[in-house]
Amino acid sequence: MNLANTPVITLDGPGGAGKGTVSTLLAAQLGWHFLDSGALYRLTALAAMNHGVELSNEAAVAVIAEHLDVRFEQTEKGTKIVLENDNVTEAIRDEAVGRNASVVAAYNRVRDALLKRQRAFAVAPGLIADGRDMGTVVFTEAPLKIFLTASAEERAKRRVLQLTEKGQDVDFDTVLADIVERDERDTNRATAPLKPAADAFQLDTTSMSIDAVVSHILALARERGLMS
Ligand code: DC
Repeated sequence: MNLANTPVITLDGPGGAGKGTVSTLLAAQLGWHFLDSGALYRLTALAAMNHGVELSNEAAVAVIAEHLDVRFEQTEKGTKIVLENDNVTEAIRDEAVGRNASVVAAYNRVRDALLKRQRAFAVAPGLIADGRDMGTVVFTEAPLKIFLTASAEERAKRRVLQLTEKGQDVDFDTVLADIVERDERDTNRATAPLKPAADAFQLDTTSMSIDAVVSHILALARERGLMS
């Protein structure tokens, strides 16, 4: 990893804080690469499910993570994610896969297996890294670290809207309970728990528009000399 030459902006925070949308827009505006690290945990969970691996079996799930056969292909419609020659771009967004991703993400050996793969995304001209431990574990030397938050209710509202737009019938209270449960697991796990890096800039997006969040981060990047 040569961070001296490759600037990295890390965006960490709980699910639904807007990281995905904000990161994609930042990467597009800066012309930088984008790492969706959550997708790697989702892919590990999906591969384990596909291969009939018991999710409670840490060693077996770690082997799956070590041998993940995945390609991220850039297309006109965005990033296409291919797992063992199957297009799983949509499948990994499934709620059940998300829940299982949170389970496998608590395993030390799985996180270790995915570390090198994540760092390999740091190539010129720069990287926007989206996740939970980008600033605290994976890219500790990043010159700009952002921690995005929003209230659990606001995040549930955004999630319900997203799922309704996809034509799914969802119940607010169920989505909220799921978000609270996942936060709890991500925050309290022993390995790489969800928390802001000591040098992270914290931004509460509850009542901010996406554009306002993006502008704010771009201003910080400019201040730090990461862009002209
Ligand atoms: O952001 P997401 O919903 O796609 O993430 C899926 C799960 O993976 C979520 O439970 C948190 C976990 N995760 C993690 O532990 N570390 C990361 N860097 C990214 C995601």
